[in-house]
Amino acid sequence: MTTDVPASRELAGIAELAARATGDRLRTAFRSRPGVDHKRDFHDPVTEHDRAAEETIREVLAKETPGSAVVGEEGGAQGEDGDLRWYVDPIDGTANFAVGLPFFCVSIGAVADGQVVAGVVYDPVRDEMFSASLDGATCNGDPIQSRGATCDRSAVLVTGYPNARELRRRGDEALRRFGLMVDAFATLRRPGSAALTLAHVASGWSDAAYGTSVNAWDVAAALLLVRQAGGTYLPLGGEPGCADWEAPGYLACVGGFDLAGSVLTQVAEIAS
Ligand code: IPD
Ligand code: CA
Ligand code: CA
Repeated sequence: MTTDVPASRELAGIAELAARATGDRLRTAFRSRPGVDHKRDFHDPVTEHDRAAEETIREVLAKETPGSAVVGEEGGAQGEDGDLRWYVDPIDGTANFAVGLPFFCVSIGAVADGQVVAGVVYDPVRDEMFSASLDGATCNGDPIQSRGATCDRSAVLVTGYPNARELRRRGDEALRRFGLMVDAFATLRRPGSAALTLAHVASGWSDAAYGTSVNAWDVAAALLLVRQAGGTYLPLGGEPGCADWEAPGYLACVGGFDLAGSVLTQVAEIAS
């Protein structure tokens, strides 16, 4: 099966429908200080709303694309592994959502023919729907363009690096690299939510992003947004030959940014 442009637009529309279906719940629960459980460790929170939002998304996807598979952060892989697979993060940025910081999103990506063919990142607080298909990328229906700073000195970098596990593993080296980025970039921010950060790079609202320790549901939708908006998304690490959305790290930047001359090539250890 080959997904053509009209089919990918239709999938993006279905992803939008599924993401929007969570909006009322997430907005109502936001700033209610929901109870928090932990998954891997105390840095990894989850709420009842993560699980419920994923259920809502699964219901919409099952109704609109029967026979598709869904890989969700909370419910794992379900459904037949046929032509179409969805990657779902019901809340990316749960730590922010749980305390009331307005920087989290819903992320839904569609993979077919060995590539991401559609994806949405939905910010329910601002009601911003970032949507990508093989036809382009939009925010609330308006085309977006990934343009901005051209070099580190004038750029805003968003990163979650290093996280606690990376500090435990190679603390001194991780802090040295963090220092390199703080020093080289005009501004460094750590707002959380890889998917929303990448949607902002796609929109030209941030200039560059560096992520490590991500999962397919964090980046599948967002990598298509960045690329379709004219930005760069480079997967980092992973098994040889793994798909871009399966790689555990990424570098992203707006179109026209001098990545070869950026300190990020040292930090991420990529050849410039
Ligand atoms: C996390 C966020 C965070 C990133 C982590 C993700 P979650 O997702 O995107 O910014 O640094 O790697 O796991 O747990 O909020 O869905
Ligand atoms: Ca996530
Ligand atoms: Ca999540």
